[in-house]
Amino acid sequence: MAPVKVKKICCIGAGYVGGPTCAVIALKCPQIQVTIVDLNQARIDAWNSPDFDLPIYEPGLVDVVKASRGRNLFFSTDVDKAIQEAELIFVSVNTPTKKTGVGAGFGADLHYVESATRRIAAVAQNSKIVVEKSTVPCRTAESMRTILEANCKPGCRFDILSNPEFLAEGTAIQDLFSPDRVLIGSLQTQEGKDACGALASVYANWVPNGRILTVGLWSSELSKLAANAMLAQRISSINALSAICEATGANIDEVSHAVGYDSRVGSKFLRASVGFGGSCFQKDILNLVYLSESLHLPEVAAYWRQVVELNEYQKSRFSKTVVDTLFNTITGKHITVLGFAFKADTGDTRESPAISLIRDFLAERAYVTIYDPKVDAEQIWQDLAEANPNLPLELIKKQVTLAPSALEACKNKEAVVIATEWKEFKEIDWQVVYDNMTKPAFVFDGRLILDAEKLRKIGFRVKVIGRGSQ
Ligand SMILES: NC(=O)c1ccc[n+]([C@@H]2O[C@H](COP(=O)([O-])OP(=O)(O)OC[C@H]3O[C@@H](n4cnc5c(N)ncnc54)[C@H](O)[C@@H]3O)[C@@H](O)[C@H]2O)c1
Repeated sequence: MAPVKVKKICCIGAGYVGGPTCAVIALKCPQIQVTIVDLNQARIDAWNSPDFDLPIYEPGLVDVVKASRGRNLFFSTDVDKAIQEAELIFVSVNTPTKKTGVGAGFGADLHYVESATRRIAAVAQNSKIVVEKSTVPCRTAESMRTILEANCKPGCRFDILSNPEFLAEGTAIQDLFSPDRVLIGSLQTQEGKDACGALASVYANWVPNGRILTVGLWSSELSKLAANAMLAQRISSINALSAICEATGANIDEVSHAVGYDSRVGSKFLRASVGFGGSCFQKDILNLVYLSESLHLPEVAAYWRQVVELNEYQKSRFSKTVVDTLFNTITGKHITVLGFAFKADTGDTRESPAISLIRDFLAERAYVTIYDPKVDAEQIWQDLAEANPNLPLELIKKQVTLAPSALEACKNKEAVVIATEWKEFKEIDWQVVYDNMTKPAFVFDGRLILDAEKLRKIGFRVKVIGRGSQ
């Protein structure tokens, strides 16, 4: 059988991954029709909004969608039609950590993947290549194959590929335009290799061949978990060292600079901070912990679990620094938190360290004012309500205020906490901030973005992660 020529692609899941990834495929492959589908009508309406008020913020995304939407890029809730028309289907649905049942708190909740797979089996009228784009535990492709084969119509065959996504939020478009690598896992049968070739030929429209890596299915699935675990492990390692720096008077920036100069280590991902967030790192490591335990590898599980525990420690250590520095009590004090997104250049708040910090400040009965340039109010209230299940939202709203700008947020406050590394926080007129704050005025830099010396000269008392007391 000749390898399939892909003319129509369907992507199930119009989220942070499915949306940008398939919008870029549409841009780079004008000969392919790409339809991104989702059950969430509001999300699809936002993707289709006439003024391009898209459901996610990502630099450069609007231009990509503007170039292709209505030409060869479509957003729809008609999942069945898109499945039926496509030769190749990306499954890009969410795989959050399970909240209840077996593996709760660790294992991935695969029910979205399973229901998308069952839908494909139920409505497909001819053979398809089904591509696992979601991050999943090892051997999920096998379960998908079993479901598809047990439920498909006669004459339909399904080839399953694993094609994990390595984009980082905040730089997603850049990452998709010029990926370090595209990884495709397939069965090592002739059919598996042909399916792999069909997907590789899509990426080959803009990705150099040397960057398209083809491996076995299970290696591909595990590589995604491994990549995220190793990236997060670097952050936890540098954060662990930041605690030593604070206790000894060493400077974490100098330490990471010196360590990163070693070409075997490299300089990226060695920035100390209040902790990592985002929808992936914690979830994927916990998934790896669960996998290791299921495979009776407790030492391996304990090793990876510590990466997450260190991250929790770093967040609570930072909250404690704020309380200790403000004369051991923040009850009734006014604290500004600058940044709510889990990192700069995204509106995504999943697992954002800001949420943990604010939860801790509320527990101490402080008043908190929040400013973030991209996160909307509704999202902030939803996240704070979830993080404080014992505090009714009306009470949260009595303790928390949302401000329209950074300057406004800092007026008449005792302390400012930098929780997200938005560029605009570096560019604030800190003299004006100081003039309008209650004295003594404190700044806590949880992202190492401010010039602490300059702030001290203005009159601030400054605490920076990874630097001892001055
Ligand atoms: N966000 C990231 O930076 C990132 C990076 C790499 C990989 N991933 C992985 O990609 C996957 C998707 O992540 P995301 O951030 O895009 O999630 P998301 O929650 O933003 O989007 C998932 C979308 O899938 C939709 N959906 C769920 N079940 C569906 C179904 N049966 N039919 C149609 N639509 C359905 C949901 O409505 C939602 O809009 C996850 O497995 C994640 O781990 C995420």
